Amino acid sequence: MNSKISAEYISSYFSKKFDVAIVLGSCLGPLKYMLEDRKEIKYKNIPYFLTPTVASHEGLLVSGRVGKKNVLALSGRFHYYEGYSKDEIVYPIEVICALGIKRLILTNAAGAVNESYRMGDVMVIRDHIKLFDSFYNYNDIHHDIYSRELINIALNQKYSGGRIHKGNYMYFSGPQFETKSEIKAARIMGADAIGMSTVFEAITSAALSIDCLGISLITNMAAGVTDDKELVDTVDKTAERVADSFSSYVYSIICNL
Ligand code: HPA
Repeated sequence: MNSKISAEYISSYFSKKFDVAIVLGSCLGPLKYMLEDRKEIKYKNIPYFLTPTVASHEGLLVSGRVGKKNVLALSGRFHYYEGYSKDEIVYPIEVICALGIKRLILTNAAGAVNESYRMGDVMVIRDHIKLFDSFYNYNDIHHDIYSRELINIALNQKYSGGRIHKGNYMYFSGPQFETKSEIKAARIMGADAIGMSTVFEAITSAALSIDCLGISLITNMAAGVTDDKELVDTVDKTAERVADSFSSYVYSIICNL
């Protein structure tokens, strides 16, 4: 299997066993600087790994330490709206599994549907809604996708950038931001935040018995919640503004795993 070949290459390159893997969402790349004793490899130099097409996704696999934990960070993720297949999107998770890593943190930037949320807040993902996209790769999941134990750890840390919520993440395939009507519908269905990633990776990790934690950084209020006409700009600005706080928050989650 290709994922085994990728994993063997990564293992021999870093010659370490990892306690946890973390996928850094768009705009959250700076998180990798929190790692001590950092060592990197470009995705394109790993056999069978894919190369991201979006400029802000640099495609680096980063090894380092957070306290006593060995961490493997994936800086650059693959989205459906970029033209990748779902097989490709979840490939890194299969490699994480082949590496024997048992815990995974998925981070993303998300828009708030819940009107009580504020930009800069974080939302620990309790569950997700993915109504409109089929995903055939894994269909045998008999437990919660997001680990309750990890959710509780995440809820118990301090975050200086805003408040910490627990809520439902709703997936939209993008690439355009949602319409006001889609956001209204999402709210009625029980979504608290929306984004264009995470759910396929989370399903894959649950199917492969990797404990999964999802954390959304609320970078903007979703379409129609405010009349923000520069959503893309707002997403980047918020991520930049709270990058340090968000990094410290994730750091303390990892320390407490
Ligand atoms: N919608 C979808 N994806 C996003 C958003 C949004 O408002 N913000 C960040 N990622």
